[in-house]
Amino acid sequence: MSVIDLLGIYTAYEGGDKPVIKDLSLSVDRGEYVVIGGPNSAGKTTLLESINGLVKITHGSATVCGLDVARFADTVRTRVGYVIQNFYFDPFTPFTVEQVVMMGRFGRLGLMNRPARADYDAVQRAIALVGIEDLAHKSIGTLSGGQQQKAMIAHNIAKEPEVMMLDEPFSNLDFHAREYLQGVLKELVRTGIPILMVAHAFDGLPDIRIRLVVMNGGKITYDRDCTAGEVDGIIRKECKVNGKC
Ligand SMILES: Nc1ncnc2c1ncn2[C@@H]1O[C@H](COP(=O)(O)OP(=O)(O)O)[C@@H](O)[C@H]1O
Ligand SMILES: [Mg+2]
Repeated sequence: MSVIDLLGIYTAYEGGDKPVIKDLSLSVDRGEYVVIGGPNSAGKTTLLESINGLVKITHGSATVCGLDVARFADTVRTRVGYVIQNFYFDPFTPFTVEQVVMMGRFGRLGLMNRPARADYDAVQRAIALVGIEDLAHKSIGTLSGGQQQKAMIAHNIAKEPEVMMLDEPFSNLDFHAREYLQGVLKELVRTGIPILMVAHAFDGLPDIRIRLVVMNGGKITYDRDCTAGEVDGIIRKECKVNGKC
């Protein structure tokens, strides 16, 4: 069984009269690095939210980690990492980076709901992996957009997810930071965790087999393996709606 199995799904937002995702099928296995591209409004974010049980699947079937997403959305969300698009903490958010990363452990805390040694260790490991030790004790809301994105990546790594989804996670980061973090993601893939990454900038992609999925108008219009160097050209060609990816 694949880690993600979507079969002929349609999804609609509450109050939306038309489906955003239409008759979409996608299976993702362990160890796959999936890059998702496509024009604005193609449904990329909605696809990730369908996998995570955040939007209603009106038709078709969706299982993630062997669980029916419609019935077990809460459990699915504890097992899937999700770095959301355009998220900013308010300047007065009363948490340090370390505390935000610890929140990634909350779905795993034991009976007493208190972090144990393993939780503190996972938090320190995630912070070190992402390279934000110097930010650990800073208030999250005082950081730049790029630093907050790194903290949210660490939060999701600390979660030790079975699938990692990232929605344009590098939009506020320079090339060096993107390249470094792509290396971190490559390590996750090497340990078997599949990655689904929605992106607009394709520089710094790791030199591993990449599965490129392009969406247009709520459907997948391209789905093939390629190398990092081929991604940009294929995306340009495959963006059919407004040509802007
Ligand atoms: N919360 C929402 N309620 C209703 N419609 C939405 C909502 N979020 C997105 N949409 C619509 O769904 C479509 C796909 O959006 P989205 O998945 O965000 O695309 P992308 O991430 O590819 O830019 C768009 O037409 C958008 O207007
Ligand atoms: Mg989006």
